[in-house]
Amino acid sequence: MTNQVKHPIPLPVVVVLLLFLTILCKTRASITTETEALLKWKASLPKQSILDTWVVLPSNSSSSSSKASNPCQWKGITCNNESTHVIEINLAHTGLNGTIESLDFSSFPNLLRLDLKLNNLNGSIPPSIGLLSKLQFFDLSTNSFNSTLPSSLANFTEVYELDVSRNHITGGLHPSFFPTEDSKFGWKSMQHLVMQDTMVRKMSEI
Ligand SMILES: *[C@@H]1O[C@H](CO)[C@@H](O)[C@H](O)[C@H]1NC(C)=O
Ligand SMILES: *[C@@H]1O[C@H](CO)[C@@H](O)[C@H](O)[C@H]1NC(C)=O
Ligand SMILES: *[C@@H]1O[C@H](CO)[C@@H](O)[C@H](O)[C@H]1NC(C)=O
Ligand SMILES: *[C@@H]1O[C@H](CO)[C@@H](O)[C@H](O)[C@H]1NC(C)=O
Ligand SMILES: *[C@@H]1O[C@H](CO)[C@@H](O)[C@H](O)[C@H]1NC(C)=O
Ligand SMILES: *[C@@H]1O[C@H](CO)[C@@H](O)[C@H](O)[C@H]1NC(C)=O
Repeated sequence: MTNQVKHPIPLPVVVVLLLFLTILCKTRASITTETEALLKWKASLPKQSILDTWVVLPSNSSSSSSKASNPCQWKGITCNNESTHVIEINLAHTGLNGTIESLDFSSFPNLLRLDLKLNNLNGSIPPSIGLLSKLQFFDLSTNSFNSTLPSSLANFTEVYELDVSRNHITGGLHPSFFPTEDSKFGWKSMQHLVMQDTMVRKMSEI
């Protein structure tokens, strides 16, 4: 009895922590998270007028803050009908400079289309891009990306069009990109796959 181990964390603290975590999880995939992720990405890029609309207006006391921080009207951003999630990022052919390395892909669980073709983007295609598991359309063509294609792209089970042509991408195509009959991952929906003018080795060479 006297040696009874005391609970290391007092119960009220545990309850508060759990509540906090629940709230955190709920907001995790909200438009606010998406707004913050877009602003963080913008901050990582060289200053460019193309993203001038990407600002959170100071909310007047009368207007709701959620409205003020809504990115749905920003250039290149499309939301779902309820304006609760970003479903498309389309900055194709805008002369965008920088990298996508600071874009927090975990914030966009509902993204369907990512179109960044014909820009001046360089650096790597980060493995975290595989977190866009609902993505259907993915176009990074005509940029200067110079990494390999991360194996996490096998998560693109819904993608029907993938274009990374005209980049400096190297390496091979991971076997998991190509699903077998009962695999959970892989490019199961692919209709249009374009990789010309990259340095990706052909499948026969792997
Ligand atoms: C990207 O950088 C180049 C060279 O610094 C510059 O000429 C161009 O205007 C920049 N693009 C944008 C959209 O600001
Ligand atoms: C916020 O308030 C300022 C000054 O009261 C006004 O000029 C501005 O139009 C308001 N903005 C919005 C979005 O209501
Ligand atoms: C969204 O709105 C458009 C146009 O009003 C409509 O055609 C479409 O069916 C709506 N989508 C959903 C998922 O409600
Ligand atoms: C991307 O290109 C810019 C301009 O040429 C250069 O300054 C920067 O170091 C490059 N970044 C990467 C990650 O290659
Ligand atoms: C694939 O997507 C799921 C669901 O979003 C995620 O939990 C998982 O981490 C992703 N895998 C990779 C390799 O990105
Ligand atoms: C990509 O380019 C950057 C900047 O030129 C360089 O530092 C990096 O090593 C390159 N990465 C690969 C995988 O070639």
